Amino acid sequence: MKDLTPARETLDPIEIASRDEISALQLDRLKWSLRHAYDNVPFYRKSFDDAGVHPDDLHDLSDLAKFPFTVKTDLRDNYPFGMFAVPREQLARIHASSGTTGQPTVVGYTKTDLENWGSVVARSLRAAGLKPGDMLHNAYGYGLFTGGLGIHLGADKLGISTVPISGGMTPRQVRLIEDFKPNGITVTPSYALSILDEYARQGINPRQSSLDVGIFGAEPWTNAMRTEIEQAFGMHAVDIYGLSEIMGPGVSSECVETKDGLHIWEDHFYPEVINPETGQPVADGETGELVFTSLTKEAFPIIRYRTRDLTRLLAGSARSMRRMEKVTGRSDDMIILRGVNVFPTQIEEALMTIPDLAPHFQIELSKPGRMDKMRVLCECAHLDINANARSAAAAALAGQIKQTIGISVQIDVSDVGGIPRSEGKAVRIIDKRNDP
Ligand code: DLL
Repeated sequence: MKDLTPARETLDPIEIASRDEISALQLDRLKWSLRHAYDNVPFYRKSFDDAGVHPDDLHDLSDLAKFPFTVKTDLRDNYPFGMFAVPREQLARIHASSGTTGQPTVVGYTKTDLENWGSVVARSLRAAGLKPGDMLHNAYGYGLFTGGLGIHLGADKLGISTVPISGGMTPRQVRLIEDFKPNGITVTPSYALSILDEYARQGINPRQSSLDVGIFGAEPWTNAMRTEIEQAFGMHAVDIYGLSEIMGPGVSSECVETKDGLHIWEDHFYPEVINPETGQPVADGETGELVFTSLTKEAFPIIRYRTRDLTRLLAGSARSMRRMEKVTGRSDDMIILRGVNVFPTQIEEALMTIPDLAPHFQIELSKPGRMDKMRVLCECAHLDINANARSAAAAALAGQIKQTIGISVQIDVSDVGGIPRSEGKAVRIIDKRNDP
């Protein structure tokens, strides 16, 4: 793999500033952000007043813990524009969640917000090893989802030739990578696997593609998956994280030179990790729920937003800004099976140790009697795997899950192509527990 380490002089000075400098900037910006939210969003005025706190109560960064949390239902309750701090006419862009599981969540950006978003995404792409003049195949979905247009903003800012292919039409994805020869690709890790399958179908060796780096996010993925993708394409694979409520992609991102967790762009987003049960902040290094406060957002300031994503904060490394460990999963996706907590990423990790199984999987939950039951649906890695090898692979996976997670699950191995492919975020859990 090529050495893509960005030249130090190309970084934004704040990325490698001293901790004191970063904290001082955060404090100034946090004061502004709390005041801006309180003065302009009735929801925040009420929630601060109800909690008996005022923006003037923030004297140092730790005082933030006195302020109330914001949760997803607050956004839904204020649908569509009730959380905005500027008149609608000043919005330059509106994005929204799909709303398949309820009221969509709407977020908005002023022109300055879009500038800032572009800057943090440009920083993320640079951290991944891209530079002006490179070409990027952007296969995140364009539309209300923040992935496609968010990455696009940053690529424009960095001076990259962007191919805005969006998700879907997989044969065309391969065709354009082969014909245009981009050196970077931005896509969900699960859709990257679909693109890989298509390479195999067309009989083209992905290791000979022009790609030097893939920037994967929008869903949890493991280091085992990183190795799989890196080997399959012969390229670097780095992680990018974000959520619409905070901005979109580019809240944090991994550096290609260290691949040791995601640097949070702390000059725009203030991170905390809390104990999800007590709501109390935990010390850096301890795992819990990630909470973000925006420091610069004008249209949609967000104070102590509970992301439900589980991770821990680590000290800076290649950049001074703190890192978050790869997200293990969302608390919503945690399965409790006979008292054991299980995340889909743990199943992914186990699956990747069995060479005869492909990296595609789903988890089916049912309740045949009084106990929950888990079935892992996966598929053969090759067409020439016979019935014996298939049963051996299923037994090996069941054994690996038993040994590493401590639960007994049923494994169903289907033919190649048996698991539905994603074109964006993978659907990992099929919950049939309430089925009649
Ligand atoms: O997924 C933004 C994004 C687009 C990030 C493209 C990275 C790349 P939402 O649709 O609002 O926004 O979903 C946000 O996705 O709370 C996490 O649960 C999950 N997520 C996002 N990035 C990662 C990641 C975009 N790198 C939700 N690892 C978040 C694990 C991720 N989970």
